[in-house]
Amino acid sequence: MKIAVIGTGYVGLVTGTCFANSGNDVTCIDIDEKKIAGLKSGVIPIYEPGLKELVLRNAEEGRLHFTTDTASAVKTAEMIYLAVGTPQGDDGSADLSAMWAVTKALAPHLQEDAIVVTKSTVPVGTNAKIFGMLKELTGRDCHVASNPEFLKEGAAIDDFMKPDRVVVGVRCAEVSDKLQQLYAPFLRTEKPFLSMSPESAEMTKYVANALLATKISFINEMANLCEKMGGDINDVRRGIGHDSRIGFAFLFPGVGYGGSCFPKDVRALTAMTEDKGNVPEMLRAVDNVNERQKTVLFEKVKTHFDGDLSGKRIAIWGLAFKPETDDIREAPALVLIRQLQEAGATVVAHDPEAMENVAAETEGVEFSESATKALKGADALCICTDWKAYHQPDFAEIYQLMAGHVVFDGRNLYDPARMKARGYCYHSIGRVAVDGRKA
Ligand code: UDX
Repeated sequence: MKIAVIGTGYVGLVTGTCFANSGNDVTCIDIDEKKIAGLKSGVIPIYEPGLKELVLRNAEEGRLHFTTDTASAVKTAEMIYLAVGTPQGDDGSADLSAMWAVTKALAPHLQEDAIVVTKSTVPVGTNAKIFGMLKELTGRDCHVASNPEFLKEGAAIDDFMKPDRVVVGVRCAEVSDKLQQLYAPFLRTEKPFLSMSPESAEMTKYVANALLATKISFINEMANLCEKMGGDINDVRRGIGHDSRIGFAFLFPGVGYGGSCFPKDVRALTAMTEDKGNVPEMLRAVDNVNERQKTVLFEKVKTHFDGDLSGKRIAIWGLAFKPETDDIREAPALVLIRQLQEAGATVVAHDPEAMENVAAETEGVEFSESATKALKGADALCICTDWKAYHQPDFAEIYQLMAGHVVFDGRNLYDPARMKARGYCYHSIGRVAVDGRKA
């Protein structure tokens, strides 16, 4: 199949590359000339495990192309995937200006039977609006479909190649069949291809993310309560998870969710609900609990140092919103850095991938190429991201380096009893703090 993908951001690039890898002829389009020039010479604008190799291989074998010329790519395409950004607008709703701009740009070049597919997360009703716009611009009924993505950053290639399900929103069986053919190579493990209306498909994406975000805010609220009541959230998690109606997934407490999807999508769904005159009480609570959770580590640090952080040297491990990515959008670490600096502390940070991005957005942060060296002279260590590299540090070496033996673990990486035995004062999430320091 000949496919054009408009927008070479995270979603567009992964989608285009994976479709090329299953034998399609794919052209990825972007208005950013620098990005396209880079991609043509093998420079991948984001860090995503496995993506670079896949882009290079498919480009080399002639199935994956990059261009800034929308007209020529759309003219020959049987399917045009829209994967442009839909960022959060000022009122919390999704900003669709890029979506409207590309719809206008592609309309004059659309083949008679071509299918325009939205991959970006778009408010319910957007497909219908695109259909209306294309009808106005071309004078005919064009095929429009919704095909939401459920990719996790850091595991995007795997998620695309082995999806739990594929959801499409279509108005006719012919379009559904074509999309099913396109996805057949990825559904060989009998995972379902679910065809529904565009509105239901658009809604599915928001509901999935809102429910996942709800699970995180729920467990975070319970973790905070556990601390106050003297319980251990890890034990509680085990205690509830064996109930098959509850399960274990996505119930890890932490310093709040970040990233490009959960915060934005929960707010966009809130805005949609309000727009229709309903009161989004659950959604508002999910967002509020999450914003508060991002400040939990700072509150612990402040309390520990009796409210005085001036002159303290605080190390942070983990800046990305989660491991295996350099993405710092809505990352809890950014909130912690700001709060620590405002309180007069010096911040020294380490992250395997995200230091450059944080350097571009902050001032006064010291960066360390080595996680261990970041601890030299530090009064405390805060952990914001559960990178594998932080799971088993050399605690004896760290002990020698640190000025104060205090760890604030926002990801519950270590066993409190062991940390106590190693001589640390150890705070984590949803578990009672322990203090193994000698008086
Ligand atoms: C998410 C969805 O998982 C994906 O389906 C959708 O397409 C885009 O949004 P992503 O943002 O890449 O993907 O990250 P994910 O791995 O889902 O984690 C999101 C955030 O939740 C991270 O900040 C993570 O640390 C946090 N999280 C996740 C928790 O705090 N606890 C958990 O149990 C799980």
